[in-house]
Amino acid sequence: MAKVSDPIIIGKKRVKNRLTMAPTVKFDYAGDDGKVTEKHIEHYKERAQHECGLICVEATAVSPDGRFWKNHMGLWEDGQIEGHKKIVDACHEEGAVVLIQINHTGITSNPDCGEAIGPSAVPTRDPETLSRAMTLEEIKAMEEKFVSAAVRAQKAGYDGVQLHGCHSYLINQFISKKTNLRTDEYGGSVENRARFAVEIIKAIREKCGDDFIISIRTPGIEPDVVTAMEIAEEYVKAGIDYLQVSTGIEWDDPTVKDEAEYNAIVSLGVRFHDHFKGRVPVSCVNGIFEPKTIDYLIKNELVDTVDLGRAILADPAICEAALTGAPFVKCFNCPRCQYGPGMPHKCPAAMKRA
Ligand SMILES: Cc1cc2nc3c(=O)[nH]c(=O)nc-3n(C[C@H](O)[C@H](O)[C@H](O)COP(=O)(O)O)c2cc1C
Repeated sequence: MAKVSDPIIIGKKRVKNRLTMAPTVKFDYAGDDGKVTEKHIEHYKERAQHECGLICVEATAVSPDGRFWKNHMGLWEDGQIEGHKKIVDACHEEGAVVLIQINHTGITSNPDCGEAIGPSAVPTRDPETLSRAMTLEEIKAMEEKFVSAAVRAQKAGYDGVQLHGCHSYLINQFISKKTNLRTDEYGGSVENRARFAVEIIKAIREKCGDDFIISIRTPGIEPDVVTAMEIAEEYVKAGIDYLQVSTGIEWDDPTVKDEAEYNAIVSLGVRFHDHFKGRVPVSCVNGIFEPKTIDYLIKNELVDTVDLGRAILADPAICEAALTGAPFVKCFNCPRCQYGPGMPHKCPAAMKRA
């Protein structure tokens, strides 16, 4: 029987326990230059100090036009590496493995940041406006941006990257038939729709080597679980080290429902774990606010690791609570941490523990 405190090997790295921090943007921390601030360093260090085994740093843009808001962090130029090195060093000192999520928002890019481009011309975040379909040359250039960002991440000392392959962003837009209407080698079949990410994975492996973790956050349903697994199979064939399961663009599968102990989104991670068991570690996420849920998922070997989002934002001591039963302040499951820039991030749990 597995324990939350059990170490696990991901890629070639040893993670000291089964607790992982899900990528969660701190909207009001970065400036327009996309550089890391002292607030970021403190924020991640604190989560590592509370024994989180693996930290995945928030969605970080591979190019300035690929941002949801202007104040997303970036890894699109070398001048941004130094700040990331400070996050990594701070977390490594506390014994955490550190990944960074790299992303391009594609058709959902903020018009203040650049043009909305994607696999096809489909409605953008303004439903009246269509995105522009990328040319084949632009697709190759975009792959190169992901690879360059990964190389910069490695220079900063990150143990690896997580490709943002879900939540409606560019890689997800390529795999979803709703946003990918292409008829060339990047559209149509599962293999073609996965090609954009697969080419990025292979190129990062070639440039960054076998010691560098390549994870992908992928939808457990797109539009159904079987198709989402077929897509993930392409990623596994390409050499991914870690599958982190969340949601995508479409949800059309009546077999996915809330379970007694965890919700429907977590159940996707559980199903992926069952399918990929022994081949690649799998994590689940969503609405996990209690140590007893973490314990249940790990003890029954339903997933390999548990990603914590709002719970670890509310109180990083959730990790010690899951490891030793120490006290912590539970996330109130309110929407306050989800607001965009300029909004006060007044997490009631964080205020309670202050
Ligand atoms: C404030 C906030 C920022 C987020 N930023 C990201 C992000 O950068 N990348 C990502 O893939 N998901 C992001 N998410 C989604 C979380 O990683 C997670 O999937 C979601 O919050 C559900 O998990 P939870 O119930 O444990 O919070 C964010 C969520 C919140 C609340």
